[in-house]
Amino acid sequence: MKNLSEDVSEFANALREWFLRERRDLPWRRERSVYRTVVSEFMLQQTQVDTVLPYFENWVRRWKSFEELARADESDVLRAWEGLGYYSRARNLHAAAKKIVADGNVPANSEDWLAFRGIGAYTAAAISSIAQGIPVAVVDGNVVRILSRLSGDGTVFKDNAAAVAKFSPLADSLLNHAFPGDHNEAMMELGAIVCSRRNPRCLICPVADFCAARSRGEEQDLPRLAGKQMRKVEIERLWCVREKTLLLVKNSAGKRRLKELCELPRAEDFCVPAEKFSRWKIIFEGKRGIANEAISEKIRRVPAREIPALEKNFVGTHAEILFVPLAQLDAVTLSGPHRKWIRALLGE
Ligand code: ADE
Repeated sequence: MKNLSEDVSEFANALREWFLRERRDLPWRRERSVYRTVVSEFMLQQTQVDTVLPYFENWVRRWKSFEELARADESDVLRAWEGLGYYSRARNLHAAAKKIVADGNVPANSEDWLAFRGIGAYTAAAISSIAQGIPVAVVDGNVVRILSRLSGDGTVFKDNAAAVAKFSPLADSLLNHAFPGDHNEAMMELGAIVCSRRNPRCLICPVADFCAARSRGEEQDLPRLAGKQMRKVEIERLWCVREKTLLLVKNSAGKRRLKELCELPRAEDFCVPAEKFSRWKIIFEGKRGIANEAISEKIRRVPAREIPALEKNFVGTHAEILFVPLAQLDAVTLSGPHRKWIRALLGE
């Protein structure tokens, strides 16, 4: 077995050579720019590469630069995002383009990217290393998996964040400073197609000789995370009461989940400009878990005068809008914990 700390450059070279040879042909890799990298990294947050592909192609065909995106109507931006989910990403990406154009320059380093809404440590490191050649290592669940196996570290982490904190120094020490973007994408690629959670493909791994877990036959056992890993989901909903009626969205019969159930509408069911949206007061915040999802919900109150415009900009799919008289709420079927929220918000 080779020693990870003594043979850092051999490790980095083996990884990069493998990446240059085997990397997937992805559209944001064919032609690089800061703009295309920012768009792809926003889209790739919590979303699989295969899902992102058509959205990315369509997006960069339509808006070719931060300037073009900054000039776009928010409603068009949201429509182009329709189906990708987590719509705050689209608003944050649009806002980032506007800020970059207003500032007249793109952020120069990872810390400056972090100042943007919707850009966390991972995305800031990915953008600045891939598009700008800045030496900063990405660390997410995939990288944690690789590093825990390479180092054979059997620590039980209480959650993913604790594991990310633990492995960040090792990620930094392994970073290929001459090619930080290639290195980070190689780590992402290794995590995606070789060092998978179950049945890792060690026989084709370019750095298998450095892997302590493999040498002990423990690769499937690492990393060790306490409890199950929960996927974080953030949902924003709207509270619209007009003339003693409450706006609800009823899912159509054809919908796969929650069919024919009524819910408080989600923010993404409507095209709402970000400036407006963020002014609406949050009147409820709660957390709940469903299967492997840790869901945090916020409900914002929409002023009554805004409701007609909102109604016109309804873009929810497989659903219809209903205005249900408050006195008849018991007659509709609500999904999940909605009845509890509605009762609480009505002061019942
Ligand atoms: N996931 C996040 N960023 C990525 C990238 N640049 N390539 C592939 N998968 C990714």
